[in-house]
Amino acid sequence: MQFSKKLVIATCAAILAGMVVGTAEAGKGGSKYRQALMKAVGGHMGAMKSILKGEGGKKESLAGHAAAMAGLARASMTAFPKDSSKMEGPTRALDAIWEKPGDFAKVSKAFIVEADKLAALAKKGDMKGAAKQIGALGKNACGACHKPFREKKK
Ligand code: HEC
Repeated sequence: MQFSKKLVIATCAAILAGMVVGTAEAGKGGSKYRQALMKAVGGHMGAMKSILKGEGGKKESLAGHAAAMAGLARASMTAFPKDSSKMEGPTRALDAIWEKPGDFAKVSKAFIVEADKLAALAKKGDMKGAAKQIGALGKNACGACHKPFREKKK
């Protein structure tokens, strides 16, 4: 009896602790995930530029990076949950993301379209086409979103 009472208390405490941790993570989770995702996006971008400029990395690796980028573009659609403007933790995401959902959706869609084009060219081994397309991706996706929706570095 004594044992089972202790067990119940311990179980309750564990559940409560789990809830507290869960809530804290939900509060911070959005910006943490978003920043990790964007770091990965930036990493692949840097790796692809290096390959295309002949500064390191094998041409055969380009398709893998481009495919990953196309996947990350899709994941980014889920990285800006609605009320995350109020999330704790440092973030450079501007409120405009949630104030202008139409504009934001447009540029998010462009991210997928441009990344898919790059992935297709890289898969074919079209290095010249890929070099051109990476410029379009940078301009129409990264730049087009960062300019209105990301806070400038202080
Ligand atoms: C749809 C909008 C959007 C697109 C498209 C986009 N970004 Fe971002 N990016 C953001 C926002 C918003 C942040 C700030 C996130 C934060 O601080 O919470 C960010 C942050 C970053 C960061 C900093 C991550 C960190 O916290 O260290 C890098 C690097 C980055 N983006 C690279 C890229 C590159 C490269 C591309 C294009 C291939 C790209 N992004 C496309 C919106 C976008």
